[in-house]
Amino acid sequence: MNNFWLTLPTEIFFGKGQLSVLGKELQKRGAKCVLLAYGHSSIKKNGIYDKVTAILNDAGIKFVELSGIDPNPRITSVAKGAALCRENNVDFIIAAGAGSVIDCCKAIAAARYYKGDPWDFFIRKASVTKALPICAILTLAATGSEMNGGCVLSNEATTEKLPMGSYKLKPRFSILDPEFTFTLPKYQTAAGIADITSHVFEQYFSNPDVPITDRLCEGVLKTIIECAPIVLEEPENYDARANIMWASTIALNSILGLGKEEDWATHMIEHEVSAQYDITHGVGLAILTPNWMKNVLSEETKAKFATYGRNVWNITGTDDMDISLKAIEKTAGFFKSLGIPTRLSELGIDDSRFEVMADSALKYHGIGGLKRLSKVDIIEILRNSL
Ligand code: NZQ
Ligand code: ZN
Repeated sequence: MNNFWLTLPTEIFFGKGQLSVLGKELQKRGAKCVLLAYGHSSIKKNGIYDKVTAILNDAGIKFVELSGIDPNPRITSVAKGAALCRENNVDFIIAAGAGSVIDCCKAIAAARYYKGDPWDFFIRKASVTKALPICAILTLAATGSEMNGGCVLSNEATTEKLPMGSYKLKPRFSILDPEFTFTLPKYQTAAGIADITSHVFEQYFSNPDVPITDRLCEGVLKTIIECAPIVLEEPENYDARANIMWASTIALNSILGLGKEEDWATHMIEHEVSAQYDITHGVGLAILTPNWMKNVLSEETKAKFATYGRNVWNITGTDDMDISLKAIEKTAGFFKSLGIPTRLSELGIDDSRFEVMADSALKYHGIGGLKRLSKVDIIEILRNSL
């Protein structure tokens, strides 16, 4: 088991009606003027916007708004948000929405104190030294951004989508009300589930074996597999939504990677596809994951995939390679059952940009932990996903 350093500073308020703590929690932290950031129309349609603004008015907290943050959030929104924060002496940021809104707010929080181009954080030209505090009001179970320090931004000018992170960007507190996810379209619910599942895989399928961490991963995977069909059939099933929401947070708040190297190759390839074609992150992962699994399965890695097959899918037998192949089929079947595309061609993607994507994926660092991927591997994974 590898050494690790862990800090989990985010306070979580989980459950029905927890938005009621917002005013008090902001006052407790001395907030006088907040940036209220959100996406397009969802929080206005489902009433969250009205509830949040009423709470801020009641608490006597001024606010300025940043709306229209796109899925696959753009670096241009970060510059806009940071300018708003400077001009209005903003001392706290509320990210009300899904992963893209929370990610954009993290970059704004850091950019507020940085004089250069915010993209510098993403190309490793600058690191986060100081950041505004953030609270997240989560409306989609997917990224885990509500309890981690990571964010992923897109730069249309360079056709790049890159991650950056710092513990200083972990939200101070996050409000997780499963009822806020009732209004999600089936497609977004399903994409979110695929993303959560992939986060577990990225940590689970890596060396070394760490029984405590690996068994936790398997428990989260089994819960997702059990609850996914329920939330898709009954979008207002509170308990199923609650389990999926907490799974999303646990899946990427560090706990499931403790002591392990982690992999993240599938995410890095998906970010390239999203950078080129602006697709939904979770859908890209659902398409790529089984093909990544086939690429990395070998005599060396089969024991790990067989353990997954036995412990998560209850596949029996003695031949590890046979169980591994069956487990990969089960995984592909699970993603298919979510009702989202299973091939890149369904999204109008062809092989014309595969070379560019593979080069770009390897531009800043190597990718893959379980197996270090070459350019040829990346292109093979993409080609098998067509
Ligand atoms: O813009 P609005 O109108 O709010 O609509 C959003 C958006 O269109 C809608 N939505 C959200 N909550 C809703 C709702 N519609 C109805 N009812 C609700 N309750 O859903 C759409 C998707 O939003 P988005 O923020 O893009 O989704 P998600 O949470 O999946 O975030 C994806 C982004 O996060 C990054 C991804 O790369 C992608 O850019 N990631 C961030 C990570 C992190 N910070 O740790 C890790 C992830 O692996 C991931 O890379
Ligand atoms: Zn993800």
